[in-house]
Amino acid sequence: MPVALTGATGFLGLRLLRQLLGAHRSVTVLAHAGSGDALHRITRFLELTGAPEPLVAELPARIRVVETDLERPRLGLSAPAFHELADGLGAIWHSAGSINLEGDLPQLRRTNVDGTRRVLELAAAGRRKPVVHHVSTAFVAGARRDGVAYEDELDDASGFENAYERSKYEAEKLVHAWSREHGRPVVVLRPSILVTDLPPHPDLPSHPLQVIERILSDVRRTAGPEHERPQHERPQHEGPQHADPAARHPHGPGPDRRRLRTTVPRPRIRLVGQPDGRLNLTQVEHAAEVMVRLAGRTPSGGVDTYHVVHDRDVPVRTVVSLLEGLAGMSIDLVAGKPDAPSALEALLDFYPGMTAYLGHRRRFDDTRVRTLLGPSAVSAPVDLGYLWSGLGPEEPVPAPTPPPASPTAVPSDRYA
Ligand SMILES: NC(=O)c1ccc[n+]([C@@H]2O[C@H](COP(=O)([O-])OP(=O)(O)OC[C@H]3O[C@@H](n4cnc5c(N)ncnc54)[C@H](OP(=O)(O)O)[C@@H]3O)[C@@H](O)[C@H]2O)c1
Repeated sequence: MPVALTGATGFLGLRLLRQLLGAHRSVTVLAHAGSGDALHRITRFLELTGAPEPLVAELPARIRVVETDLERPRLGLSAPAFHELADGLGAIWHSAGSINLEGDLPQLRRTNVDGTRRVLELAAAGRRKPVVHHVSTAFVAGARRDGVAYEDELDDASGFENAYERSKYEAEKLVHAWSREHGRPVVVLRPSILVTDLPPHPDLPSHPLQVIERILSDVRRTAGPEHERPQHERPQHEGPQHADPAARHPHGPGPDRRRLRTTVPRPRIRLVGQPDGRLNLTQVEHAAEVMVRLAGRTPSGGVDTYHVVHDRDVPVRTVVSLLEGLAGMSIDLVAGKPDAPSALEALLDFYPGMTAYLGHRRRFDDTRVRTLLGPSAVSAPVDLGYLWSGLGPEEPVPAPTPPPASPTAVPSDRYA
């Protein structure tokens, strides 16, 4: 069955593509127009992840790249090209999108909502009525921080932690309306936070924890010299704070973390969070495999939604230890915003889309996936060592910082 994939150069999309190549002779990659050579990026990913040489060698023959833009009518294609593409497809995987947790709603809507609308238009135009596999997120559950989120639920009653979540919710609503209107099946796949233990590489896309780590390190730089390593220790190429936009870009080189962590005293900050909180983090490779296996099931005819999540949540304390080790800070989780925030705390307030997750304790129910795939839906544990490896620091895994007996035991002027 001829299959197309959007977002094939992304963190998840590359793994989906690898799985799809295992199941299909060829794949049409609907690449982001003007965003670099997709075939080269895919080839580098396969090389760096140890794919068999014959697979790498066959890529140019097995992948057809069509340049598209989610933000333009007909995905930026001419009418004949759009219809020719649509008529040739038996399945469409939509994984492209913006995962910017701090992005503004209009921009996120353009990419995630309008983009989904255009992919659905492509599916509607196809003579063979291609099945749509829509990659959503478990976080369409929004700002409900406790309890259980079920696969059948889709509502905005609790609001959203950030514009990203809202845009993904709106995209799913669109999928439901389209399915009803056209009487067509759609498979909605909702992964939780995706992680890897593959160390970062300039030729690989960033993943969410890498972006968070860069934000934290950036905040330390912006907070001023007392939080930054001394000027005379900075490498020559490093100019004033934020002078190099690449250092802040998700695909940029990032700060010199090792020196940042080892040459400066460790500031202590307070973040709002639940000490007994938990988050669901899933290995990206496992998630892609589960998604492609789910797609092999006969769809019901309507919208089939699956939570592609880990069977064990990760304690928020583990995530905090990871962030402390990476950013060279000590973090105390507190119940509410501090009355007199320190310089670092005030800066972190600019990233509410990210820090909100430290306050989560909810569980994602994945009964439907388990019922279909059984024990194979269970994956290896995600622990501090695994997460640390995926961020590639040179130092060994950090020992967790013991929390103070009570955050109030630390005088507020001790926070940086
Ligand atoms: N990462 C996670 O933890 C996570 C968790 C849950 C759900 N998801 C969902 O999984 C999907 C994939 O996420 P990801 O982690 O792979 O994201 P990613 O690494 O940021 O990749 C995004 C992909 O979308 C493409 N893209 C962006 N804007 C585009 C546009 N205007 N037109 C065409 N293509 C465009 C990108 O192409 P370029 O790279 O060439 O720009 C890239 O291939 C998203 O729908 C996301 O909401 C991700």
